[in-house]
Amino acid sequence: MASDQRPDKAVGKAVLEPPRPERIRAEIAEGLRASPRRLPSRFFYDARGAQLFEEITRLDEYYLTDAEVEILGRRSERVAELVGPRVRMVEYGSGSGQKTWLVLGELESPSAYVPVDVARQQLLAFARRVRERFPELEVLPVAADYTQLEALPWPSAEAGATLAFFPGSTVGNLEPSEAVEFLGKIADQTGSGEYLLIGADLVKDRRTLERAYNDSLGVTAEFNLNILRHLNRLLNADFDPGAFRHRAVWNQEQSRIEMHLVSLRDQTVWLGASDVEGGESVRIGEGEVVVTEHSYKYEIDSFHELTGRAGYRPVEFWTDDDERFSVHLLQAAE
Ligand code: AVI
Repeated sequence: MASDQRPDKAVGKAVLEPPRPERIRAEIAEGLRASPRRLPSRFFYDARGAQLFEEITRLDEYYLTDAEVEILGRRSERVAELVGPRVRMVEYGSGSGQKTWLVLGELESPSAYVPVDVARQQLLAFARRVRERFPELEVLPVAADYTQLEALPWPSAEAGATLAFFPGSTVGNLEPSEAVEFLGKIADQTGSGEYLLIGADLVKDRRTLERAYNDSLGVTAEFNLNILRHLNRLLNADFDPGAFRHRAVWNQEQSRIEMHLVSLRDQTVWLGASDVEGGESVRIGEGEVVVTEHSYKYEIDSFHELTGRAGYRPVEFWTDDDERFSVHLLQAAE
């Protein structure tokens, strides 16, 4: 289908104003006072956090990336066969580089590539790289919070099916109810009968899981503690990263890795928003835990149950040889 809908029109109010520091301060203070204490994992990703995450994906212990790349390397041809020619491919959270090439490179004459990401500079740089690599392809970057997006741009030429791509097991960082809501939004944005190619990490033994999030070089610890440095800058706060310890534990009952920051002493953290507005403080006792991230792991059936609740039916799925990770091609109900 072709349309004259341009990216700026299509994203509408999804191009959000940056949230005000007072709003963020209120959210952080509320999270820190809750039981259990929590910090939102989206604050991991300042420039340093994004760089640390890149380093994590190259660690031997962090098997997720290699396993997903193995699957996409072998199965993208099959995906291309299933979704047909002239696909409009939409990637949620751009910049997965290698994974994008693996899929795009196999599609038959794709009509457009639509990367969606809130980090504008990174998004535009990635869009340039895609154009260099695929000069024939129409690249339509959308700088927006993909959870808020209402519509997507159409290619100027005739298009076939839409293939949404959400790799990396990022879906695992959402609570299951949030995941259902978000995947339901993707289905609404892309339309009934359209496809979703999604990566989900699998349940496995505790040792492998905990090693992946407690690596021997301490990169994940640095990534976890970096959230405090980021919040210090954003909020004029005074978290002392030296007063917390990184810990990652497998919660079997909930089927998730939990990333924690454990307070090493009784402390009072000051959360200022600006000099004019004043601020507030939160007390955290020695040994108390602040949860920074959940990373849910699924069995194949439980993942299909989750995606079914969002209105998707499984088309095919694949795992790597060691059955550590899964990639699913799903189709939105007609
Ligand atoms: C982005 N996300 C899928 C990663 C994960 O594995 O949950 C984030 C991460 N946290 C610690 N290491 C990696």
